[in-house]
Amino acid sequence: MQLAKKHFVVGMTGGIAAYKVCELVRRLQDEGASLQVVMTDGAQQFITAMTMQALSGRSVETDQWKSLTGNAMPHIELTRNADAVIVAPATADFLAKLAHGLADDLLAALALARDRVRTPLIVAPAMNVEMWGNPATQRNVAQLRDDGIVILGPASGAQACGETGVGRMLEAHELLEDIVAFFQPKTLAGKKVLLTAGPTFEPIDPVRGITNLSSGKTGFAVARAARDAGARVTMIAGPSALGTPRNVERVDVTTGKQMMDAVLSHLPADVFIAVAAVADWHVSNQSARKIKKTATSTPPALQFALNPDILATVAALPSAPYCVGFAAESDDVIDNARRKLGTKKVPLMVANRAQDAFGADRSELSLIDQEGVMTLPNDDKLAQARRLIAEISARLR
Ligand code: CTP
Repeated sequence: MQLAKKHFVVGMTGGIAAYKVCELVRRLQDEGASLQVVMTDGAQQFITAMTMQALSGRSVETDQWKSLTGNAMPHIELTRNADAVIVAPATADFLAKLAHGLADDLLAALALARDRVRTPLIVAPAMNVEMWGNPATQRNVAQLRDDGIVILGPASGAQACGETGVGRMLEAHELLEDIVAFFQPKTLAGKKVLLTAGPTFEPIDPVRGITNLSSGKTGFAVARAARDAGARVTMIAGPSALGTPRNVERVDVTTGKQMMDAVLSHLPADVFIAVAAVADWHVSNQSARKIKKTATSTPPALQFALNPDILATVAALPSAPYCVGFAAESDDVIDNARRKLGTKKVPLMVANRAQDAFGADRSELSLIDQEGVMTLPNDDKLAQARRLIAEISARLR
């Protein structure tokens, strides 16, 4: 529940992307938000008010002069308990109205009449590529940014009109991710966070290799939490099918050695978080050709050589970032993690039980530093990642 106790006015204007807002409205509610939908006449050409009433569980406001709201002043009353006004889709015409302070329909009027500090305005533009690129629209968008209005998207791609380019409204899940991010405390604003995530894969031959059970879920959650806290985030990821959190730079690697090279080439950073389960060894007698099985052949003997320790290497740099290590241990979790605090010379280690952590959606974490041990009781990985980022931010200050 990322948006528990939040109340939003969701404003819809007339664009085909209105269909995506049906999904957005469901997803906002899944995260605990309550909603009041307001539709312009244009919006109702694409989706009916009944559709949005059914999806939001509340009557939809469409007309300034026929309001369902108590004192018949919906343009004031609707926003007074709202944590944000979210306009999606926002047409070029509506952006122009906002830029010029017009108030000739209910949605434009309530956007103008909202308390600008308590009720931020978030807009998701949706329009044809030429309309978006038009200097008039770009002037309006620049003005809206200046006025403190939050603009999400638009994305680039195929458009409903058949043309291609910038102007597509973000997908519902992308809007949701950005809206959730907007409400997180910006404790890492201006900081750069570099992190590793996922497993590594050490080849034996072109079709075989050695890897581990890390899913990448914890690392990807930490990347998202750091981004939500306002950091610029680069994530060096081992093989993982997980989707990249929005606005996170992702560099895909395979082996521990490649991960090391990628980390070093993306320094400097303010914070380095080593979440990846890096293979301790690689196969030193790797075969360039597929190893064949014959009736008489003896099983191949693998030889191993040590991989570089990325975390210890980064922590030992003269201009080392604030370094955080992870320790997934099967036994003596705290003792093992405390030992790694010393051997890797890092100020903070995060420990968990390997049997519970790998592949799971939830985990219990213990934060270990010179002061002692702090336990973050079992919770989903994004919530844990946000707590970890809060702890790291506090230690940076
Ligand atoms: N780590 C790393 N590079 C390596 C091995 C580990 O950066 N080659 C990092 C991990 O990302 C993690 C921390 O070091 O943050 C601890 O990893 P772990 O595998 O638990 O530690 P090891 O030193 O490999 O100890 P062991 O495998 O014996 O438990």
